[in-house]
Amino acid sequence: MSYLVISTSLNPDSKSYLLARETEAQLVAAGQVVEFLDLRKVKLPLCDGAAAYSRSSVKKVTDKVREASCILLAVPIYNYDVGAAAKNLIELTGEGWTEKTVGFLCAAGGRSSYMSVMGLANSLMLDFRCLVIPRFVYADRTAFQSGAIADDTIRQRIGEFVAKAVSLNGVNLTAPPA
Ligand SMILES: Cc1cc2nc3c(=O)[nH]c(=O)nc-3n(C[C@H](O)[C@H](O)[C@H](O)COP(=O)(O)O)c2cc1C
Repeated sequence: MSYLVISTSLNPDSKSYLLARETEAQLVAAGQVVEFLDLRKVKLPLCDGAAAYSRSSVKKVTDKVREASCILLAVPIYNYDVGAAAKNLIELTGEGWTEKTVGFLCAAGGRSSYMSVMGLANSLMLDFRCLVIPRFVYADRTAFQSGAIADDTIRQRIGEFVAKAVSLNGVNLTAPPA
């Protein structure tokens, strides 16, 4: 069972990136095989539904998505939704998401946008039959200081999130009940 942690914020001082790195570290500590993808380093085109799919950066990222059994998305919250780079990634990599176990880590400015990932979670369930981890991490600006996670409850939440990811990763969604 392999894990792909994707940091989707394009902000050079991204806070969700810190959540993604902590998640990677906790997965590695739990003995899991983890790949890390930072969208700031990939420079994906905007999805046009056509020529963008043949770009080599898109093919590489699609392969990474396909190869993972569990994908953990760290997202910035913009306008009560996930940032557009995360949505663009999913538009570009499409079928690669089929029946993956998927989880969300969110960085937001304030406390009130905690349901912002639900639109994307619904679309992943409907479009690609993803199994969405029923626990997610939401951190507002008070959880960070000087470029680091400064709140131990967030580290603990990431621990619970990672434990849930490990228990759900690889659940066979197509097998008939025993
Ligand atoms: C365009 C834009 C829209 C935003 N909208 C929201 C919002 O709806 N709710 C919120 O709590 N924070 C909002 N924020 C604050 C970001 O969620 C916050 O800066 C967060 O740290 C972004 O994640 P990142 O640091 O990983 O890029 C917004 C920020 C920007 C730039």
